[in-house]
Amino acid sequence: MESSLEIGFLRVTEKAAIAAARTMGYGKRKYSDQVAVEAMREELNRLKMRGTIVIGEGERDKVPMLYVGEPLGRGWTEGEIYPEVDIAVDPLEGTNLCATGAPGSIAVLAASEKGGLLNAPDVYMDKIVVGPTAAEAIDMNASVQENLSRIAEAFERDINELTVIVLDRERHHDLIGQIREAGARIKLISDGDLSAGISAAVRGTGTHVAMGIGGAPEGVLTAAAMRCLNGRMQGRLRPLEKWQEERLRAMGFFDGAKIYDTADLASGDDIIFCATGVTDGDLLRGVRFFGGGIRTSSLFMSAKTNTIRFVDTIYREEGSNLAVSFV
Ligand code: FBP
Repeated sequence: MESSLEIGFLRVTEKAAIAAARTMGYGKRKYSDQVAVEAMREELNRLKMRGTIVIGEGERDKVPMLYVGEPLGRGWTEGEIYPEVDIAVDPLEGTNLCATGAPGSIAVLAASEKGGLLNAPDVYMDKIVVGPTAAEAIDMNASVQENLSRIAEAFERDINELTVIVLDRERHHDLIGQIREAGARIKLISDGDLSAGISAAVRGTGTHVAMGIGGAPEGVLTAAAMRCLNGRMQGRLRPLEKWQEERLRAMGFFDGAKIYDTADLASGDDIIFCATGVTDGDLLRGVRFFGGGIRTSSLFMSAKTNTIRFVDTIYREEGSNLAVSFV
């Protein structure tokens, strides 16, 4: 992917994060999401590409913007030969977190050459996510105990020195019981299993594996991040309601037992992953507003060029004489 396009994607998540962060604590999760969507769409349409949304806010008849199949970018209108790009977005991951000012909400985008990101249905997915250290240790067909033993071995430590991140949901009652029985520590989170997966794949965050059932679209984005971080994710689609089963069949997903590995979910050679903090989190700081300027913190990665960048950006307002501070 051209470097001008890559930098453009960074700007997309920065702008979405800034828009959402302005609404932090308003208690209006849908509104926070909407402003992030609008900002993302505006920025995506400035880019020199023929982009298509493959993971977005839903279907065209239900959402007006960033719907699956939506064409974005200048290539569709200017008639230039700009590259074809598939785009997966979660303009505001952790809508509740932003609405309440809680830690961990982010604006996210992944991109690849055509066909490089699975067009996953908007149902649930059972997931296990680890970083490079334990990439060879996981197996969704094995028990929780077995997975944790092997992950602990990969980290050369005891199971009771591992921390597992799990969404705090009723459906995880059994999973939490099994993790406790195995002896690992647990970090329960109220939302945001995509950030959780990324944290688990980065050393120094104090977490080692993310487990449990969350959204399948978030699963594809997590897999894109794992491609860039050399981590690993396995996932199995889990329709929890009847309409989800019907949706899966309608989209041609018939094999309920299939385990999707990282490269099944994000198969592209040229994968870009980009996330900007909205509220403070394990890896990224939230958006900070000063008189005369705004500061954002982002993670910007490319699987093709093997680069992982932590980007700290200051947007100075026009005419502002804001002094830049080091921290
Ligand atoms: P939103 O940002 O759409 O609110 O999703 C937050 C989230 O916690 C995801 O991280 C997770 O995959 C999903 O919701 C879990 O769904 P549910 O809240 O239905 O358990």
